Amino acid sequence: MFKINENYQKLPGSYLFSTIAKKVSAYTKANPEKEIIRLGIGDVTQPLAPAVIEAMHKAVDEMGNADSFRGYAPDLGYEFLRNAIAEHDYRSRGCDISPEEIFVSDGAKSDSANIQEIFGPDNRIAVCDPVYPVYVDSNVMAGRTGVYDAQAGTWSNVIYMPCTMENNFVPEFPKETPDLIYLCLPNNPTGTTITRTQLQEWVDYANQVGAVIIYDAAYEAYISEPEVAHSIYECQGAKTCAIELKSYSKNAGFTGVRLGYTVVPRELKCGEVSLNHMWARRHGTKFNGAPYIVQRAGEATYSPEGKAQLKEQVAYYMKNAAAIKNGLKEAGYTVFGGVNAPYIWLKTPEQMTSWEFFDYLLEKANVVGTPGAGFGPSGEGYFRLTAFGSYENTLAALERIKKL
Ligand code: MLT
Repeated sequence: MFKINENYQKLPGSYLFSTIAKKVSAYTKANPEKEIIRLGIGDVTQPLAPAVIEAMHKAVDEMGNADSFRGYAPDLGYEFLRNAIAEHDYRSRGCDISPEEIFVSDGAKSDSANIQEIFGPDNRIAVCDPVYPVYVDSNVMAGRTGVYDAQAGTWSNVIYMPCTMENNFVPEFPKETPDLIYLCLPNNPTGTTITRTQLQEWVDYANQVGAVIIYDAAYEAYISEPEVAHSIYECQGAKTCAIELKSYSKNAGFTGVRLGYTVVPRELKCGEVSLNHMWARRHGTKFNGAPYIVQRAGEATYSPEGKAQLKEQVAYYMKNAAAIKNGLKEAGYTVFGGVNAPYIWLKTPEQMTSWEFFDYLLEKANVVGTPGAGFGPSGEGYFRLTAFGSYENTLAALERIKKL
């Protein structure tokens, strides 16, 4: 008789955003006349930028012509895109990253889930709490997290680094020594971040204890303050301890297009073994390349027109973020984030858990958000709203919340 991967049986419930989608769908079925405003999952609403659309149309035409048709993409990504990434995302910022260290993929969600595969099963992971659920869930699937304590909402073999208003949402070095440290900065879900100097301390710490930082920079385009690093490779010594994940979903609206990349520096080694070679081997075996049309779309985000158009999109969402932040403050809420990230993190009203507040907002204001507890135990008592809605819907949601 075949055997299943028993680790999947350990996963509590369904994936956070699937649970929310099911709850909202049940509510709309029971109340079809209600107009729901969705500020839950961080999904974009603005259409793709004209420069991106133009590049995609051109690439579609190329695919319809025998002379310019392309089959399988190079498994690590087309050179035109890897060169553009190295130039615009790294060298222009003084980071010494070469195209050979860049691996193009179908997005940061899959990369952030898959990257753990190249590490041994007995590595201990450290995560911020609250945290993007993919990091923990993918390690549960791999059997790395130990036993789940349903009461506490924690795994016995995961090191949690609480990020709450008490420590300004800045993770502290854990008491136990981790092997893999997941950092998402600017942070999902809290919308907060740390300074370049604080990030440098993490890089120094990782190099000192021999840990690898898996650095999720999906929200980098939303940074507005100069003291915040756009890449972990702005820190000295990061190339010997850090892997960086990047996404085109949030800066270019590619949530439905799917494109991202991972940087694994050549200097990142375990003894003599190169993690860059390992990830190349994994990528080559398990992935057949992001589509040509999509990689051309990615390239277009770096053209002067593309850059200017994306800057406008980011500004549009950050206008929403400011409106949410100010509106909630006026309504008496305690709010965080929204300055370097498109997420607003608010304290739920006294006596209400984050799931109770979720139900309350859905039923009384027909607004969908994300309960903090869904991101980990330290998320309890908090709630996330995304700035990725339309401006009109964002204002309408705020009006409804203010009336409660
Ligand atoms: C979120 O809402 O946390 C994100 O949109 C999820 C994701 O990027 O996969």
